[in-house]
Amino acid sequence: MSKFYLTTPIYYASGPPHAGHAFTTTYADVIARYRRQHGDDVFLLTGMDEHGSKIAEKAAEENRSPQEFVDDVAAEYQKLWQSLDISNDIFIRTTSEKHKIGVRKFFDRLRAADAIYEEFYEGLYCAGCEDFITESKLVNGLCPDHAKPPELIKEKNYFLNLKQYLPAVREKIISDTIHIRPDSRRKEILNVIDSGIPNFSMTRDRTRVPWGIPFPYDDSQTIYVWGDALLNYLTALDFPDGDLYKKFWPADLHIIGSEINKFHSIYWPAMLLAADVPLPKSIFVHGLFTVNGQKMSKTIGNVINPDDLISRYGTDGARYLLLSQFPASEHGDIKADEFDLKYNADLANGLGNLFERIFSMLRLYNISPTDEETDPEIASACKNAEEEYHRRVGGCELFEALQTVFLFIKTLDRYINEKTPWNMAKEGERKELVRALNSLFHGAETIIEWLTPFLPEKMAHAKEYACKLKAGTLAEDKKLNLFPRL
Ligand code: MSP
Repeated sequence: MSKFYLTTPIYYASGPPHAGHAFTTTYADVIARYRRQHGDDVFLLTGMDEHGSKIAEKAAEENRSPQEFVDDVAAEYQKLWQSLDISNDIFIRTTSEKHKIGVRKFFDRLRAADAIYEEFYEGLYCAGCEDFITESKLVNGLCPDHAKPPELIKEKNYFLNLKQYLPAVREKIISDTIHIRPDSRRKEILNVIDSGIPNFSMTRDRTRVPWGIPFPYDDSQTIYVWGDALLNYLTALDFPDGDLYKKFWPADLHIIGSEINKFHSIYWPAMLLAADVPLPKSIFVHGLFTVNGQKMSKTIGNVINPDDLISRYGTDGARYLLLSQFPASEHGDIKADEFDLKYNADLANGLGNLFERIFSMLRLYNISPTDEETDPEIASACKNAEEEYHRRVGGCELFEALQTVFLFIKTLDRYINEKTPWNMAKEGERKELVRALNSLFHGAETIIEWLTPFLPEKMAHAKEYACKLKAGTLAEDKKLNLFPRL
C-alpha cells in the first residue's frame, strides 16, 4: 500500500463557492477515491484561504469582522463538500492556530537560511489577483481578469531571494522531479522562468494589510497572503514534526486551475528549496471554464451555484455534469442550458437504462449471473476500455476517462440490440441467452467499478442491487431506477 497525498487549492473565503470551486474539488475527490479503491493510503486536502486585503474589504462592506465573515464562508464551503460527497481528510483554514504555528516554523527556516531580505518596493497591485501586475498586462489601464485599476504600492517588504532558487526550480521541472501536467502548462511555466521574473515579496505593510499573520521578525509587516496560503499544504500535516507530515509529505499531486500555476510551479518549489523541504512530486493544472461562452460573473448572471445543480440532478448527477463537459488539459466551456439534455442522454437513457435492461432481462429469464466465460466480443471491448480508463485516470484525464466508459456503455447497448436476447428466449436458445446476459452482467459490474469514484452513491446502490441479483435475494419486480428521467 503506498501513500498518496493530494490537494485542491484552498479557496478564498471572499464569497460563496461556485461551480469552478466545485469542479476542482470534485476532480480531486474522484482521483482520491480511485486511489483508495486501488489500495492506496490517501490523504485528500481541501480548505480555505482566509487572509488578505480582498477578504478584509468584503467583510468591511458587510460591517462584520473578517473572522466572523470567513467563519460563515468556510461553513458554506464545508456544507457544499458534504452535499457533493467529497471525501476530504482535512479542511484546513488559514486562520486556524494549527496553520499559524506551522507558518511561523516555516518562516524560521527561511530566515535561518538567509533566504529573505528587506527592500523598498514600488509596483502596481491588483487586490483581485492578490498579486503585482506589470503595466504591459493591463488592458485600458485595468487588470484584464478583474476589470479594475490596480493600485500603485510603494512600501518596504521582505522578499524571497527567488533568483537564487530559480535555476534549481527550472532543473526540477525539466527533469520531471516535479512533474507538471499537461505538457503545455509545463512549457508555459518554463517560458515564464526563462523570460525572467522579479523576486517574490513575502510580506505586506501591516498598516495597509492588517488582516493576515504577523511577520514574526518585524511588526510593521504582515505575511503576504500567498506566502501564507501555499504553506497550508504543509501546516495541514503539522509541519515539521507531525506524524501526518512524516507519513504524507511530499505531496504526490497538487490539483490547481491554470491561473495559479505560477504560484505553485515557481514560487512554491522555490520556497520549499529555500527551507530545505522536499518538493511535491506532481502538479496537474486544469483549464478554466466559461459558461455558455462567457466568463462566470455576477454581472452577466451566469454564475452556476453548485447547490442548484445538486437539487436538480442529485449529488452524482451534479458531479457527472461538472466533469463531463470539457477536457481539463485545456480551457473549456460549460453548456449550462444543455444540462438537462446531457443528464437525460448520458445518465438516464445511457447508463441507467442499460443497467435496467440488463438486470430486468436476467430477472425475466430467470438467469442467475455466474462468472463463467464471457463472449469474446464483450471481453475484448472491456479489456480495451479498461486499459484506456486506467491510463486516463492515472493521467488525471477525467473527461477522457468518462468518455471511455460511456463509449463502452454504447457498445453494450449495441450488443443487446444486435443479439436480441428476447429472440433467443423465444427461439429457446437458452445456452446463447445465458452467455449473452452473463457477458452483459459482467460488463455492468465492470462499469460499476469504473464509475464508483465518479458517482459513489449511485454506484454503491447499483453494486448492492447487482449483488442481490446474483445471490437471488432481490425482491420481485424491484427496479433499480438509478437516474430518473427529467
Ligand atoms: N486562494 C487561492 C488559491 C491558494 S492555493 C494555496 C485562490 N482561490 S480561488 O478561490 O480564487 O480559487 C481558484 C481555483 O478555483 C482555481 O485555481 C480553480 O481550481 C477553481 N476555479 C475557479 N474558477 C474556475 C473556473 N472558471 N473553471 C475551473 N476552475 C475554476 O486562487
